Amino acid sequence: MNRRLLVATFGDEEDILAATRRVRETGYSIVDVFTPFAVHGLDTAAGVKPTRLPWVCFALGLSGAVAKLWYQIWTSATSWPVNVGGKPVNSVPAFVPVTFEIMVLFAAVGTVAAFLIVSRLRPGRRPAHVYDRTTDDRFTLVLLQDDAGFDVDAVRRLLQPFGLLDLSERTEIPPEKPPRGSLLVRPGYIGALGGGVILFTLLTYLTPRDFTEPNLMVLPGMVRSVPFDPFAANDIFPDGKTLRMPVAGTIARGYYPIDSSKSVEIADEVRSRYSKLSPGERSRLDERALQVFSTFCQPCHGTSGAGDGLIVGHGYPPPPALTGVSALRLKDGEMFNLITYGRGNMPALGHRVPREDRWLAIRHIRQLQQKAVTTAEGEGP
Ligand code: HEC
Repeated sequence: MNRRLLVATFGDEEDILAATRRVRETGYSIVDVFTPFAVHGLDTAAGVKPTRLPWVCFALGLSGAVAKLWYQIWTSATSWPVNVGGKPVNSVPAFVPVTFEIMVLFAAVGTVAAFLIVSRLRPGRRPAHVYDRTTDDRFTLVLLQDDAGFDVDAVRRLLQPFGLLDLSERTEIPPEKPPRGSLLVRPGYIGALGGGVILFTLLTYLTPRDFTEPNLMVLPGMVRSVPFDPFAANDIFPDGKTLRMPVAGTIARGYYPIDSSKSVEIADEVRSRYSKLSPGERSRLDERALQVFSTFCQPCHGTSGAGDGLIVGHGYPPPPALTGVSALRLKDGEMFNLITYGRGNMPALGHRVPREDRWLAIRHIRQLQQKAVTTAEGEGP
């Protein structure tokens, strides 16, 4: 059934706002208000119920966050747990950024979609114009003539003070329904759809198939490394190499040279430095020395330096006892050199054991030798 409507037109936003408020107070039923732009306060004035979209937004955001959190915990802790540097597999703080992103994505896209569905805005929708100039510079208020005694003149008198420009009666024309399936039948849509399919098929068959290369590189600079590979030829430098030699006189970490012409003075200085150490500092050094020896030397040389380490039991050629004559004859510097560069079956450990630790290992060997001598003396002839 067609409703009988009364369309009142105004020229100003202030007018329509006041008129709408007045009409509502008087008790007329407002069908809708049309304005060229959003007028603040008009929704309350017209008694429009507050939108429920924020709740949709909240629900979508919440479900997005929960779903993403669950998915991350499931993938990282249940389906494919990977130990990354000993961190717990489901460490929630690491999931927060992605969870947040997905929450925003769900909420934003979902709310827009919900808005389009609820407001029935879709492509091809025909606008229902109540009054042509509402899209330009006129403000219209549409009232429902809901009973037979509806007095148009009374409304006119009511609205006159608000700068009423025009008042017209009309019968609502139900919005024209597009025939079923029209969307697919329209030539434009068919053309676009068919063209898309043809283009896709052509591209699929015409693109060269080299599975070692990505077909489409959107940003080749992101795929291919821009800097030179370390060992690649390089035309920037005169010698044509990418890797640069260190600046002359550079000393590698942990390798600073000892001036052997001053070895006696250095040894004296080190000795006097040790003698000044407090007992606490000395026992800390001993502890560290033991630690270094057990980690790097004991597997071959054995706990007491007798040359009976674990791997010797597995067939490694046994090293000479560190408490033996030849080791007793070795000077500290010679031992340092031997540990640093290796000799025979003794591996070079300079790159593994830091300089200070090598000296500490020697200190430990000296203590083992001391102990061996004392024990031998104690046993007597
Ligand atoms: C892989 C086994 C292995 C490890 C690890 C090892 N050594 Fe040796 N070491 C040997 C062997 C074998 C020799 C005998 C070398 C030779 O034949 O000239 C040796 C010789 C020595 C000597 C000379 C002994 C002598 O009487 O001439 C010293 C000193 C020494 N090692 C100290 C150390 C220290 C200190 C460490 C730890 C920082 C260490 N070694 C780690 C196998 C090892």
